[in-house]
Amino acid sequence: MFVKVSWVAVTIITLFCVYTSAQIVSQVCLGCICEVSSGCNTTIGCSETVCGPFAITWGYWFDAGKPTLNSEPLSDNAYAKCVNDPYCAAAAVQNYMTKFGHDCTGNGVIDCEDYLRIHRLGANGCTGALNSKYENRFKLCLQTFQNQ
Ligand SMILES: *[C@@H]1O[C@H](CO)[C@@H](O)[C@H](O)[C@H]1NC(C)=O
Repeated sequence: MFVKVSWVAVTIITLFCVYTSAQIVSQVCLGCICEVSSGCNTTIGCSETVCGPFAITWGYWFDAGKPTLNSEPLSDNAYAKCVNDPYCAAAAVQNYMTKFGHDCTGNGVIDCEDYLRIHRLGANGCTGALNSKYENRFKLCLQTFQNQ
């Protein structure tokens, strides 16, 4: 499991490194949110309520300012096209956290755990309990990549 997490996260972190400079959510944090949301499966597609490797809902994408793939004009499938693409989905996460990021854990800083909580539980519900499997997987991912 450790090896699998590492491989997936390295791939994704490398992908995201191309993407950005001054974004509020770090590459490692994005990679770990992706990892715990779907195993960072970029071909996972849509289920009933979420799409893509970050498991983003339509409402989340809407609140993130409706980014579109390659900045195309909005269309009926703009949501699915964006959030199934790792870069566009990451842009949605960055926008969402720029708008709603705050300290959920009460430790005085806005860090990756806050972003994960907001991603998973929403901006207003982010002090709630995370599923323990999800939380453990996230902590393992952060430990693996944060101190390099
Ligand atoms: C990604 O998700 C698709 C669709 O659910 C699945 O067929 C595929 O095996 C998954 N890939 C990995 C690497 O888990």
